[in-house]
Amino acid sequence: MSKDLLIEVDQDHFRERLNKYTRRAFQMLPKLERPRILDIGCGSGVPTVELAKLSDGEIIGIDINQSLLDKLNRKIEEEGFSDRVKTIKCSLFEMDFPDESFDIMWAEGSIRIIGFEKGLKEWRRLLKPNGFLVIHDEIKTVSNKLKKIPSCGYKLINHFQLPEDAWWTEYYRPLEKRIKELYIKYKNNSEALKTLKKHQNEIDMVKRNPKEHSSAFYVMQKHKILMLQ
Ligand SMILES: C[S@@+](CC[C@H](N)C(=O)[O-])C[C@H]1O[C@@H](n2cnc3c(N)ncnc32)[C@H](O)[C@@H]1O
Repeated sequence: MSKDLLIEVDQDHFRERLNKYTRRAFQMLPKLERPRILDIGCGSGVPTVELAKLSDGEIIGIDINQSLLDKLNRKIEEEGFSDRVKTIKCSLFEMDFPDESFDIMWAEGSIRIIGFEKGLKEWRRLLKPNGFLVIHDEIKTVSNKLKKIPSCGYKLINHFQLPEDAWWTEYYRPLEKRIKELYIKYKNNSEALKTLKKHQNEIDMVKRNPKEHSSAFYVMQKHKILMLQ
């Protein structure tokens, strides 16, 4: 996508409207002094920057997409967080940090890449004793996921579902309005129209059944003992 179009679509502006749920989940944690936080699959870092505002911690955001990390790096600099927020290009399948590196691990929209149960089990070693894992995931199979939490070595602190239409009303609907305006502006630019169509296809998928695209937060604490099944 051309840089101008990327700036004009500005999905992050709409994604930020959902930060209130990131804040709600963060407030379910006890107050920690300068926590070390890992944001897994941080993308362009809307939640990462919010975590930097909410805490006085050191944050590492990891993602495999360098252009999203570049965008996040620019925000980190603009917001004055360079001394305590860093990004690393790395896959969530290959996080080779030492055991017990983090007080908090945060993953919004990324655990589905590895799977809920596998992610919980594999990421556990990276948490300090009694550390916290916060997951924001698609709404599907909430009750199954809740059942998996103890056997993966965590205690559930709390969980909540976003309002069923939150993604539609707060993200996709305003994004659609922006895309429609850009269709008019770029009506003679086939390259731009191709990009806008991709966005519109995603919006159409959600529009058909907004409730299916809802999501939930899970706030968990690492258990001392990993129960063997
Ligand atoms: C739905 S986005 C979520 C971005 C951000 N956490 C948010 O909530 O706005 C999922 C992110 O996972 C990243 N991703 C995909 N596969 C990955 C992998 N194997 N390792 C790390 N990140 C990955 C994508 O690049 C994308 O930025």
